[in-house]
Parts: sequence; C-alpha cells; structure tokens
Amino acid sequence: MTADELKQLVRTVPDFPEPGIQFRDITTLIGNGAGLAATVRLLAADAKKAGAQAIAGMEARGFIFGAAVAVELGLPFIAVRKPGKLPVKTIGVDYALEYGTDRLEIDPDAVDAGQRVVIVDDLIATGGTALASVELLRMAGAKADHALFVIDLPDLGGAQKLGAADVAVSALMEFEGD
Ligand code: PRP
Ligand code: MG
Repeated sequence: MTADELKQLVRTVPDFPEPGIQFRDITTLIGNGAGLAATVRLLAADAKKAGAQAIAGMEARGFIFGAAVAVELGLPFIAVRKPGKLPVKTIGVDYALEYGTDRLEIDPDAVDAGQRVVIVDDLIATGGTALASVELLRMAGAKADHALFVIDLPDLGGAQKLGAADVAVSALMEFEGD
C-alpha cells in the first residue's frame, strides 16, 4: 500500500475537539490490518535509514506505531510517558499547550549514553510534544536528531520548530489547510 492509499484510510472528523478543528483520526487506519502493516513498514524503513539504535514513542498514540517499528527492526523501545505513570525516579519536561501546560517523563535509565534514538508519533501539529520528547531524550544522554510521523499538519509549523532544534523530520502524509 502506498502512502497515498494510506492517507485515504485516515478519517477526518469535523469540529473535534472544538468547533472549526478537523480531527485527523488514525482509528480507521489502524483498524485496517494491511494499512497498519504498511504504515509500520514505511516508518521502519525511514527509522533504519536514520540509523536508529532505539525507538522512542510518546504516550498514547506514539506507542501504537513506535513499539511496532521497534519490533520490526529488532530495536529497544523507550516509552515517553504522561506524568505520574512511571514507578521510578523520572526526568520530565514541561511544555506549553494552547491553554496551560503539559508534561512528559521518561526513566533516564531507559536510554544509553550516545544512543541514536529515533522518535515516532502518529502526528505532528505544533511540534510541542515532539520537541519536549527530544529535549527529554537529550537530557538522558541520547542522540535525538530524527523524528518520524504518520501525519504532518504543515500549516501548524511543527516540522520547522523541530528543524530549528536540529531534528530531521519526515512524515508519510500531510494534510494542509488545518
Ligand atoms: C496528539 C498526537 C501527538 C500530539 C501532536 O497527542 O498524538 O502526540 O498531539 O500535537 P503537537 O505537535 O501540537 O504537540 P495527544 O496527547 O493529544 O493524544 P494521545 O494521548 O491520544 O496521543
Ligand atoms: Mg499523542
């Protein structure tokens, strides 16, 4: 299945979570077995090209694709978690949302010094989630310079924000006009 065919499997839900927002929903993509497999294979090829030694995925939707890519390549998976979930001493990064802030945490022992960790998530919008993850992985000693997404919403500028932090971004598909 090509990236264009995969794009047809993404469902667009108008006015969620707020009026005027077009929500790009992967439920229908992952609900198609061939579509899910093709998505993981394409992401894994990019992760391999990037020289991944480990894959990091962000809770929750990044776990779906990130862990599958790690399995496909036989690499370790690093879980970037929402706050308060890990039972050990974590490191965390707070980042701004449109209203308020959010936080991501990792177990620093999950990262080896100098390890090239490739980030995988379902979607990049403002880039806040991915940038916080890059910061966190770098704090833990990783080389985090590649981020892979199923979907990019280029109008929201996330890929540019990551580029400014020396992170190469690639996505299987884009939705413009968001
Ligand atoms: C969504 C999406 C990305 C993030 C992208 O996660 O899965 O992780 O937003 O937005 P950004 O580029 O503006 O940071 P969210 O935490 O909303 O939901 P999830 O727990 O279902 O992944
Ligand atoms: Mg998410």
